[in-house]
Amino acid sequence: MLLDGLDAASIARAADAIAAGALVAFPTETVYGLGARADDDAAVAKIFALKGRPPGHPLIVHVESRARADRFAAALPPVAERLVDALWPGPLTVIVMRAAGVAAAAAAGQPTIGLRCPAHPVAHALLVAAGERGVAGIAAPSANRFGRVSATTAMHVVEEFGADADEMIVLDGGATRIGIESAIVDCSSGVPVLLRPGMLTRERIEAAAGMPLREPGDASPRAPGTLAAHYAPRAKLRIMEGGMLRTALRVLGSDPLKLAVYSRSIPSGTATGVVHRRMPARPEQAAHELFAVLRELDRQGVHLIWVEEPPPGPEWDGVRDRLSRAAAAP
Ligand code: TXA
Ligand code: MG
Repeated sequence: MLLDGLDAASIARAADAIAAGALVAFPTETVYGLGARADDDAAVAKIFALKGRPPGHPLIVHVESRARADRFAAALPPVAERLVDALWPGPLTVIVMRAAGVAAAAAAGQPTIGLRCPAHPVAHALLVAAGERGVAGIAAPSANRFGRVSATTAMHVVEEFGADADEMIVLDGGATRIGIESAIVDCSSGVPVLLRPGMLTRERIEAAAGMPLREPGDASPRAPGTLAAHYAPRAKLRIMEGGMLRTALRVLGSDPLKLAVYSRSIPSGTATGVVHRRMPARPEQAAHELFAVLRELDRQGVHLIWVEEPPPGPEWDGVRDRLSRAAAAP
């Protein structure tokens, strides 16, 4: 059921549903989340069932404030404290050791927990209202079927879950501002490890942490958002350097492939019938529209998407990461 997320009565209804163990999809500044109360293992199990998410893949717990995070964390190591103080509310998830006996299903049984305080008025209102009903945190993965493209509008959520969407409340908060998921920093060992880049630049995270970010090693926790193949549209997606892309298009001639091209400039002389979408020149805009463009191309029945490689530079890390995982899908 779709409800207006800016309406106080809708928030109250959604918070009642969360408190009763039902699922609520809600907007955050990154992507839409599919939420259940984090302290209710049976409610969290519904998320895994609906998404088709394999067991052993932990969820992020969303909290209204740092104080609420303390309910789920054994202790925040100093580096996590600094990150949270500087960057919450915002598009940053920290992974820390989990408090004993809480949110076991949300954490998929791992000894750690992912925590995030979102900066979105609808998410915030929902978390506050749920808090008033005794719910300290809402476990929520991105509101999409496992392995697929995240939802950045309420309609994406409804389309994604089809008839299953009847079993949840979807709070409509419009298109999400950032468009790709939060940066995930594992702080559980005391040093920050970047598990998933987002739109917060590495420089900003490192400045807040007061130390360099490490790359994930063998000892880092498994994060399915960091599986090689993820965030995939139905069409096959391939990334190409601009010159190569233009050559490929020339060679293509008038082959009636269901081909789409997503590139920063429109190649001239492209065969008719090729769907072209211009990739924004700025990384913020590219991230904002990325998943909506992939969904739209799927809707148009395109079989193949050729994407021009994003420019170099850390501000493109998040977009590059999502594109390369989409391209890795079989
Ligand atoms: O922006 C976001 O992060 C969105 C919004 C809804 O908050 N959420 C999101 O959730 O992207 P999800 O489940 O699609 O991706 C969360 C990632 C997964 O790759 C998961 O494995 C990882 O975070 N993760 C969560 N808790 C973890 C933990 N304790 N240890 C390691 N990885 C964890
Ligand atoms: Mg996801």
